Amino acid sequence: MTSAVVASFIKLMKNADPVIIEELRKLRSDINRHNRLYYVDDRPELSDAQYDRLFDRLLQIEKDHPELITPDSPSQRVGAPPSREFERVGHRIPMLSLQKVTTDEEFADFDRRVTEGVESDDEMEYTTEPKLDGLAVELVYENGLFVLGSTRGDGATGENVTVNLRTIGSIPLRLSDDVASRYPRLEVRGEVIIRKSAFERLNKFLEEQNLVPLANPRNAAAGSLRQLDSSVTASRPLLFYAYGISATDLPDLDSQSAAIDLLRQEGFKLNEHIAVVKGRSGVEREFQRLQQLRPSLDYNIDGMVVKVNRFDFQSRLGQISRAPRWAVAWKFAAELAETVLEDVEFSVGRTGAITPVAKLKPVRVAGVTVSNASLHNEDELNQLDIRIGDRVVIRRAGDVIPEVVSVIVEHRPRGARKVKFPKSCPSCGMGITRLEGEAAYRCLNSGCPAQLEGKLFHFASKGGFDIEGLGDKLARQLIERMLVKDPSDLFLLTRDQLLTLDLMADKRAENLLAAIDRSRHTELPRIIYALGIIGVGETAARLLAGQFGSLEKLILATRETLEDIAGIGPVIAENTYDYFNHEGNRTMLLKMREGGVVFPTYADEAVSRKLAGKSFVITGTLSQPRDSFKKRIKQQGGTVSGSVSPKTDYLLCGESPGSKRDKAEKLSVKILTEQQFERLLQ
Ligand code: IVH
Repeated sequence: MTSAVVASFIKLMKNADPVIIEELRKLRSDINRHNRLYYVDDRPELSDAQYDRLFDRLLQIEKDHPELITPDSPSQRVGAPPSREFERVGHRIPMLSLQKVTTDEEFADFDRRVTEGVESDDEMEYTTEPKLDGLAVELVYENGLFVLGSTRGDGATGENVTVNLRTIGSIPLRLSDDVASRYPRLEVRGEVIIRKSAFERLNKFLEEQNLVPLANPRNAAAGSLRQLDSSVTASRPLLFYAYGISATDLPDLDSQSAAIDLLRQEGFKLNEHIAVVKGRSGVEREFQRLQQLRPSLDYNIDGMVVKVNRFDFQSRLGQISRAPRWAVAWKFAAELAETVLEDVEFSVGRTGAITPVAKLKPVRVAGVTVSNASLHNEDELNQLDIRIGDRVVIRRAGDVIPEVVSVIVEHRPRGARKVKFPKSCPSCGMGITRLEGEAAYRCLNSGCPAQLEGKLFHFASKGGFDIEGLGDKLARQLIERMLVKDPSDLFLLTRDQLLTLDLMADKRAENLLAAIDRSRHTELPRIIYALGIIGVGETAARLLAGQFGSLEKLILATRETLEDIAGIGPVIAENTYDYFNHEGNRTMLLKMREGGVVFPTYADEAVSRKLAGKSFVITGTLSQPRDSFKKRIKQQGGTVSGSVSPKTDYLLCGESPGSKRDKAEKLSVKILTEQQFERLLQ
């Protein structure tokens, strides 16, 4: 600071009202205390609203007296939001995903399945809808009022973003009295998007402000909606397009097209290219039309959603695991682009698998700039016969990592160099092996720094401990400097240790320590996911947490109990068993606990025991093996027996049932079709 600046600063300080200074001091200390109660001790004393009031007052004073802002004010904590995390909300009816088709033939199969499924002789009637590439949300209206809005999340549970959704002008806050009285609760689903043109403007603005531009309109929409400060959301040009209503048992509403009409009438925005068509030919025509239209649209679409129009047909068709049988996403072909291969690097993943990565001359494809693409494995390298300097064709489809599809051999420059697969691990230098039945080479050194980096990065990732600020670069440094040998060491890091790292100033170290501290109290599924057991993603982690309820019980699980869980296959069961029976891993879990990580218990509402005490008998041919139904019934607390008796509560009855059905009828046992069974579980 120059002396003139110092002088004016002192003058300002002198001018400041001592009452304000005292209020500020008290506010900061109170907020810090409540932060701690909330994040660290898990026993908040204030409601969110009360907390927000304190915070708002702090922001107000600091706005009026910017000279009084100190770096340790809670307002300066990076990532400390003006409101806290989003609350989680369960979807009453799960938000499903869609099966995909990409060709006429695949669609024809779908058409055949549904037509046969409802035993109809007529051509099926469908709605065809552009598949908007944004972010799915659900809006709940009670007695006509918009009361709750949530993101799709994992389909079962999402985040409460009501406040942010309220800022979107295309969402009606109130429905007509007529609809309100007919449907006291209405759940509307749709997609939040940003137009391409608005996205370009937004990015230009961010760049002017020296802020990081956003990758594509979908990321921009997601990022804007998930702002903890809703005034930021309000400033973003978000649009909501409705595409349906979640229940199909509403009075006077018998089809998707009727639902669409109702939504339009109630003031929702619906896509202008939705159509109602008959049969395969009608759908194919619409697909061609959309494909031609696509470049001229001011929003991204990645395909067309085809839905069986009649709700009674939809109910009859039901769903398989996570997708309905009555709808399908017909995706546009992946986009291709041409560029130059500048180099090939070999990366070592957290499981030790060695993947060749193509370093490309940056090229735009399907809306994003691509400079890396996967070359998968050695076989792929050999098959492509790719050389450094080659012109290559790359493909990017949806969220999938871009890949090299072919080499343009005619354009091969002189001196193009062959790519050699390494003989040893590029990270630790130890030998690598190709395990039987696997395409990948793996480094089997459990102390390999690249693997540790990958494990650490995964551990701290969003789905895991969610430690903000712990990215791949920092993970690398922590491993290199031997400050961290396994993820549990994170909880022993000190400020002084962090300050020895490159680019680590006081504030960053403090933020990181605070983030680590917050993560000590997290949910059981996240902890399980973070461990990085091969094959255990977020879904499997939730299943394991739901089944065992605590880490202590999971650690002691036998192979058989693991295999019995619906949704957990034998390989994942084996990996999980091996993981927890490995001494090093058990030691690490103990160290985590010593480092202050709380291993919470977990009661998953989605896996709550809906069938507790109910006894089932299964008969006839069902859409899946009988065992899978057995598992699910048991998981929900029910029992399954081989013959119908007066104690039987339900007979789950498939096609060609035989004598069990007669007996059930005689004993007045309730008989369920597969669809009715699914509904019982919803
Ligand atoms: S219907 C069970 N309709 O696509 C029906 N989804 O995989 C499921 N999407 O992220 C959704 N446009 O948000 C439906 N007209 C449309 C859609 C649409 C885009 C998205 C949806 C979800 C994904 C479904």
